[in-house]
Amino acid sequence: MAIRPDAPLKFASPLIDEATITGVADVLRSGHITSGPWVETFEKDLSAFCSGRPVRVMTSATAAVEVALQLAGIGPGDEVIACAQTFFTVINMIVKVGATPVFVDCDLVTRNIDLEQVERRIGPRTRAILPTHWPGSLVGMDKLHALAKRSELRVIEDAALVIGSKWKGRNVGAIGDLVTFSFHPNKNITSIEGGALVMNDAAEARRVDVLRFHGIERLPDGTRDVAFPGGKFNLPDVNARIGVAQLARLPGFLARRRALVERYFRNWRADPACVLPPRPELDDGQSWNMFCVLLPLDRITLTRAEFRAALAARGIATGISYEALHLSTLGRRFGYQRGDLPNTERIADTTVTLPLHVAMTDADVDRVCDACAEILAGHRR
Ligand SMILES: Cc1ncc(COP(=O)(O)O)c(C=O)c1O
Repeated sequence: MAIRPDAPLKFASPLIDEATITGVADVLRSGHITSGPWVETFEKDLSAFCSGRPVRVMTSATAAVEVALQLAGIGPGDEVIACAQTFFTVINMIVKVGATPVFVDCDLVTRNIDLEQVERRIGPRTRAILPTHWPGSLVGMDKLHALAKRSELRVIEDAALVIGSKWKGRNVGAIGDLVTFSFHPNKNITSIEGGALVMNDAAEARRVDVLRFHGIERLPDGTRDVAFPGGKFNLPDVNARIGVAQLARLPGFLARRRALVERYFRNWRADPACVLPPRPELDDGQSWNMFCVLLPLDRITLTRAEFRAALAARGIATGISYEALHLSTLGRRFGYQRGDLPNTERIADTTVTLPLHVAMTDADVDRVCDACAEILAGHRR
């Protein structure tokens, strides 16, 4: 159902069709509701999407990142280099496995990790690089993987936001080392909650089967053992049933998201000092999960909170993506302070995420563009 122009415009709104709802009801009636045949199907479909590489689904991308770090054998004494302009999962999971996060800055427009800084921060304790890919522009994969290979480092690509983006014609996940996806409701596809880990070979997949389910190993005599305190991250079939249907609709969802982004670029007429994401180019293979804008706070009399409140008063929901990880209370424990990563901090201080989801109409984009232009023009310094 189309949203009326004056109706509240949500920040995210996944499309679950009637066939999927019926499919979920069938799973519920089947008597097998936790991990089972639909998980196998979802993993098979995701694997095909990733050029046949093994894939395991879990309850979230956060679980997948934790398991990826464990699979890579990363723990106390190890350092993981990551971008500080990303979601809390990145710092949390590095610290949770006992490793030390080493944060570097990002590009102001693409928001992707600065690979020159990564290279400079590689030291004797570095074990992995954990970059987050941003919508609209991927981390430079050739350089990233060449650097990792040269320094014998694992790479865990946080691809939570970019399922469907392509690098030189190949899907993210089809190349590289370890890659994680998120199926949270505000991502490109959803399984309500859920995530996936793409690996290199069957041996890694077998290890992940253990790590995602209590660390339990089945012994030849039919009993079980644990040698590692594994988590409990298996995805139920109910969720996998939704994920299978959503993955089939991914191309359509991506096309709609891209059309909405192109409309944002065409109709954006707010203060030219706003920093927009990289402009989409013809056939660039990029997916668009979010549309984030940096506000020119030095040119207006509003704070970011007041700007967001003015949009909220017009029924338009917004978000912040993301706070600076190195300046979180957890990040500061590792000695970071304001001024360390200028682009990350400028983004954290001035960014606003505008609505972008498949349930939006063209008129919704026009309404957001008009509202942003009017609010900024009405509060010039
Ligand atoms: C960049 C990024 N990485 C990881 C995650 C974690 O995803 P999940 O909610 O599936 O754990 C998120 C969630 O928003 C994210 O934005």
